[in-house]
Amino acid sequence: MSYYKIENLEQYFKHYNKSVREPRKFWGKIAEENFTWYQQWDKVVDFNMADAEIKWFTEAKVNMAKNCIDRHLNKRGEKTAIIFEPNDPTEQALHITYNDLHQRVCKMANVLREQGIEKGDRVCIYLPMIPELAVSMLACARIGAIHSVVFAGFSASAVATRILDSDCKMVITSDGGYRGNKTIELKSIIDEALEKCPSVSSVLVVKRTNTEITMKQDRDIWLQPLLDGASDNSVAEIMDSEDPLFILYTSGSTGKPKGMVHTTAGYMVYSAYTFKNVFNYEENDIFWCTADIGWITGHSYILYGPLLNGATTVIFEGVPSYPDFSRFWEIIEKHKVSQFYTAPTAIRALAKENLEYIQKHHLKTLKVIGSVGEPINEEAWHWYNDNVGTKKCPIVDTWWQTETGGIMISPLAFITPTKPTYATLPLPGVQPVLMDDKGIEIERNQEVGSLCIAFPWPGIARTIWGNHQRYKDTYFSAFPGKFFTGDGALRDEVGYYRITGRVDDVVIVSGHNLGTAPIEDAINEHPAVAESAIVGFPHDVKGKALYGYVILKETGEIRNKENLFKEINQHISDHVGPIAKLDKIQYVSGLPKTRSGKIMRRILRKIAEGDFSNFGDTSTLLNPEIIEEIIAGKH
Ligand code: WT7
Repeated sequence: MSYYKIENLEQYFKHYNKSVREPRKFWGKIAEENFTWYQQWDKVVDFNMADAEIKWFTEAKVNMAKNCIDRHLNKRGEKTAIIFEPNDPTEQALHITYNDLHQRVCKMANVLREQGIEKGDRVCIYLPMIPELAVSMLACARIGAIHSVVFAGFSASAVATRILDSDCKMVITSDGGYRGNKTIELKSIIDEALEKCPSVSSVLVVKRTNTEITMKQDRDIWLQPLLDGASDNSVAEIMDSEDPLFILYTSGSTGKPKGMVHTTAGYMVYSAYTFKNVFNYEENDIFWCTADIGWITGHSYILYGPLLNGATTVIFEGVPSYPDFSRFWEIIEKHKVSQFYTAPTAIRALAKENLEYIQKHHLKTLKVIGSVGEPINEEAWHWYNDNVGTKKCPIVDTWWQTETGGIMISPLAFITPTKPTYATLPLPGVQPVLMDDKGIEIERNQEVGSLCIAFPWPGIARTIWGNHQRYKDTYFSAFPGKFFTGDGALRDEVGYYRITGRVDDVVIVSGHNLGTAPIEDAINEHPAVAESAIVGFPHDVKGKALYGYVILKETGEIRNKENLFKEINQHISDHVGPIAKLDKIQYVSGLPKTRSGKIMRRILRKIAEGDFSNFGDTSTLLNPEIIEEIIAGKH
């Protein structure tokens, strides 16, 4: 019997139980039957949660790109692997077959090798949502280089931090990128970032917007001529299961961004398995995930998960509002999309628009619709269900994280009965537990606890690049022996999970995980600012928006506050990126701090939400009087 595809609810429970009782047999069989390996593993899993040491498919040899592409060529060579839908709807969409993709990736792999990139080297990819982004990632995977994709909305200093942290040798970028009616000058952002990054010896530049750029001698090279001259014959590198496949940065509540390291075999098995089952993927489905590949959602469900299953995946360059708010619906109709996977923030934004945008398009090819990135509120869930899924498509509310590599808790389309605001049941192999503040497991229903995972699954990130101690401290120390997610959740009487939001200082804005620390650092760099604290507060479209409490330096007269707010937001834009701007700002004379100097954010969060009651235990505060002052100053 095969475990790769779950056929019904009864079988889900069977597979689930098997995965808990005999995880090695369960994952071993899936790995064996659905992928090609150069060499088999010794042990399916080998782990020590106390030391945060986790290995899957030890000693096995494999190549991710071979599994994504070469493996399909016999059967699916002429099948479309990637549909590229450009920003401008009048520009022709591109259908890249598996054969085409193979050729493109092999050429790119040879270019990378000719430029001196070797197995284990880090390559930073800073590209818009164009085919070269996917091709670059797969080419890295083919030659064993570790890709570090940085979302093309990040600022020069944010890119520089990431390049430096993982010591990238090369950057792949483009002259510019289109986003709606804007053109983003990516190359000039890279030029600025590289002033601080001596490790980068070459920059490959894709021509996309024909924006005028400067090419630095001996460093910058146009990519196309190199590709034109490259052979399309490339031998894939034989990789160990635990060789890193990629680094992807995520924000934490403190300090610099964390370079989450995903390794080859476990991530491969997990992203493929979850894609197949959550979305009920069947041959000839057209899958569209609207995320940017620069986030984990794009890595796992635009690129790797779909290609590992030989699927057709859509890469959309643009935004939902360009040329108007019917764009998503137009694309679904045009490309006959079967599965549509987007974020609550997009759903809420589109729900605000006239229904005619959606009604003028046929969405009848859709069979499954999905949500990811933050809790989906009931109203948005119903709008999505009524208007996009027309009550015929199951909504898969998928809970997971950059750290988990793939979907962890989610309905399986057509199998798990859905319930608005509930991510429902764990995938096979995932063992969630809810913990109380004392570190005791909560067995009762309807009680919120810290969501932890008690046993490793193949997709878990293995470490933080260059800082295993931080990995251990962040994820394995709050509840010894368990992986702590940072989220709160409750469980209902049938065992369904509802994610209630972060229990730490991370704020999710428009589905983007924004660490408070880098934003506060950016604010504090403004010469007029002494100190700051930011928290999230509820927002109609973004889910959460940012509220900043700012202490100004005592430089006598404070200048125009309107301008100051703009300048502070510009600082954030420059240091982190435009997505991290504050919606509200309040100038305060102090922040509530504990004796150990830690800002008590839960109080600031309550004030920002307009809830001035029940601040809980404030006995550890050094300056409790500041609370009244902050409330009085709120407008
Ligand atoms: C955080 C992870 C996983 C891809 C996108 C975000 C929140 C994610 C859901 C959901 C409630 C969700 C959590 C999580 N989150 N999906 N379906 N319901 N919350 O990846 O940037 O690593 O953020 O996003 O708070 O911890 P990420």
